[in-house]
This record gives sequence, structure tokens and C-alpha cells, in this order.
Amino acid sequence: MGRIYLDHAATTPVDPRVLEAMWPYYTKYWGNPSSIYLEGQEARRALDEARKQCADLLEASPKEIVFTSGGTESDNAAIRGAAFAQRALGRGNHIVTSAIEHHAVLHTVEQLEREGFRATYLPVDEEGVVDLEALANAVGPETVVVSIMAANNEVGTIEPIAEAVRIAKQRNPRVVFHTDAVQAAGAIDITPSKLGVDLLSIAAHKLYGPKGVGLLYIKNRTPWQPMLLGGGQERERRAGTENVPGIVGLAAAMKLAWEEMPERNAHARRLRDRLFYGLPERIPDTVITGPKDPERRLPNNFSCCFRNVEGESVLLALDMADIAASSGSACSTGSVEPSHVLTAMGIDRDLAHASLRLTVGKGNTDEDIDRVLEVLPGIVQRLRALAGR
Ligand SMILES: Cc1ncc(COP(=O)(O)O)c(C=O)c1O
Repeated sequence: MGRIYLDHAATTPVDPRVLEAMWPYYTKYWGNPSSIYLEGQEARRALDEARKQCADLLEASPKEIVFTSGGTESDNAAIRGAAFAQRALGRGNHIVTSAIEHHAVLHTVEQLEREGFRATYLPVDEEGVVDLEALANAVGPETVVVSIMAANNEVGTIEPIAEAVRIAKQRNPRVVFHTDAVQAAGAIDITPSKLGVDLLSIAAHKLYGPKGVGLLYIKNRTPWQPMLLGGGQERERRAGTENVPGIVGLAAAMKLAWEEMPERNAHARRLRDRLFYGLPERIPDTVITGPKDPERRLPNNFSCCFRNVEGESVLLALDMADIAASSGSACSTGSVEPSHVLTAMGIDRDLAHASLRLTVGKGNTDEDIDRVLEVLPGIVQRLRALAGR
């Protein structure tokens, strides 16, 4: 048996069909889309087509799509772009976000605090659902941006975004609402007009597309200003020669993800549910983190903590057994701090240190899950025995 990859929330392999769509733009049509000669025009055509395709999938207009270098850039650009544009219009300097956002959002908001903005970090309940009452209390006349993720990357909680938008806009119609849909895209319906959001971030590498490319949806007439200045690319909203093969790959990956969503989700759910119900049965003192109802989490996400073990040791032992897993967030791996998501959910620091996230993908099989169910109980038991617990 080869390696078993169960960390699809960290990144996914590129779908061969996506790679095939990208290939000509490395080998044949590699011109600069801003050039007027044939090579450039071929690249321009591909870029326009990709933009139209992404816009169609999001039920948006091509003018509302800005291609970026991925989730982090989209989140930074969304929040900074709206915060500064709103402040310039004299609308205030208050930002609202949640305590369980990805660091691409949290660190951006923290930086804005250093630049004179005020921020409120909304609490979540024990399943990671953002407190909407706290949102209603937080949004006021000075609030310029609200940023709440569509689904959490560590525990898979799906957030009530449409409801949050309604509440925020009721309190202040001028609020710009951003959602980080990096984990949700391809798994749930994130159509911006249905959610009511003004800004939405997507990264290609979470849905079997290439790394280093993503998009930011910017609803028409949203107060927003660019971060990257230079050439006039992306209608002067994101300077820099476009990553044409990457963008073609993003569009192809999104199209496949949207088309295949029902099958992919059914497959993911079936495998994930085997972990969700099978692991607590086989391993005493397994504490499931995130929603207890699997239907309220992303279909591919299982996360838990094991009492009296060090999460890092579990990951290393799994790796030795040829299973790639994560403690929750790729960036917190190796850090001594427990996950901010788990502590925000009220999980004590000791338990939060023993977290495990298994995220399945379309390439996983029942045999992969059999193997995890077979080896993981022994790993946890051995580590507990070693620690004398
Ligand atoms: C919810 C969320 N937002 C943002 C990001 C950052 O995306 P990228 O790695 O494409 O910059 C990630 C990646 O893990 C994520 O899970």
C-alpha cells in the first residue's frame, strides 16, 4: 500500500484535466496578454474566457472578478482594499471579524489596528459557529468592513453567512461584507448574490487547481481600492503580468468542482462519516471538535482531539505509517501555541494540543479509511502508554 493523503484542506493534487487545460499556456500560448501581437492575443483570449467562466460559475459579471495569487492575497486585498476606501469616504474605521478566521484574515485585521483602525473579534460557540447576536451588537455606524469565513479550515464549521450579511447590513447598510470562501468553494453553494456578500475569496489549490492563484470577487460599486500598483492589469485593480496558465487552471478547476460537486460531496461524506463514527468507537477519550452533526460541517472534514496525547506525536506516527494528516492548520504545525480556533471554541489548551484533522478527497478510497481505522487506535494507545497515562 502506498502513501495515504488525508490533508485535502491543506492543499489538493492538481487534477490531470486541469493540468491538461493549463499546459498549452506554458508551451504554446505563453505570450504576455497585454501584448498586441498574436502570441499575446491568444493569452488574452484565454484570460478573458477564464474570467467569463469563473464569473458564470459565481453568477457574477466578468468585471467583478480579479485574479490574485491565492487565498492570502485575496483576503488581504479584500479587507485592506475595502477598509481604506471606506475610511477615505469618511465612513468610519471599525472592522468586525471572527475569532476563528484564517491568519490571512486575522493578521490583516491586526495590522489594520496598528494602522489606526478599531477591530472587534466575534466569539464562536463550542461548535465554532459565529455568535450572530454579538455581530448585531458589534456593527454600528462606524463599521466599515465585516469579514466572516464561509467555512472553517480546521474544524469544518459552515457559517451562517447569508444570515450574518442580513444582520450586518440591517445595522449599517454601508458595511462592506467579505467572506473567505477558500475552504467552502467547491463544497457548498457560495454564490455571492445568494449570500449577499460584497467580497469573496477563493484559492485554486484547495479544489484540485494549481497553487499560487485565486480570485477575489468584488461586487459592482463596492468601495474598494487596490493594493498592488504598477501596470494597468485587471482593470487597474491588481497590477502585474497575469499568471495565465494558473488562471486557466483556476477556471478549469472551478468548473469541474461545480459540475462534480454532488458526487464529490457524496464520496467525501461517506468516507468522512466512517472516520467520524469509527474513530471515537475505537479510541477512548476522543473528543470531536466542530459540529457534532456531520451535516453542519464541510463534507470532507473530520477533526478531533485525543486526551492525554501530544498531537504532534500522532502526526509523526501517522507519517511513519504512510498517512499524511494535520493537526488542524498547516501554519500552526510546529508551533507551541495551541490552535486559536480550538481555544476560541472553549477547548482547554492541553486538549487543543492533541488535535488531529483528517480531510478526505476525491482520490481516497475505502481501503484508505480501513487503514486509518486499523492503525490510529494503536498509535494513540502506544503514545498514551509511553506518557504513562
Ligand atoms: C480559510 C482559508 N483562508 C485562506 C487561506 C490561505 O490561502 P492560500 O494558501 O491560497 O494563500 C487558507 C489556506 O489554508 C484557508 O484555509
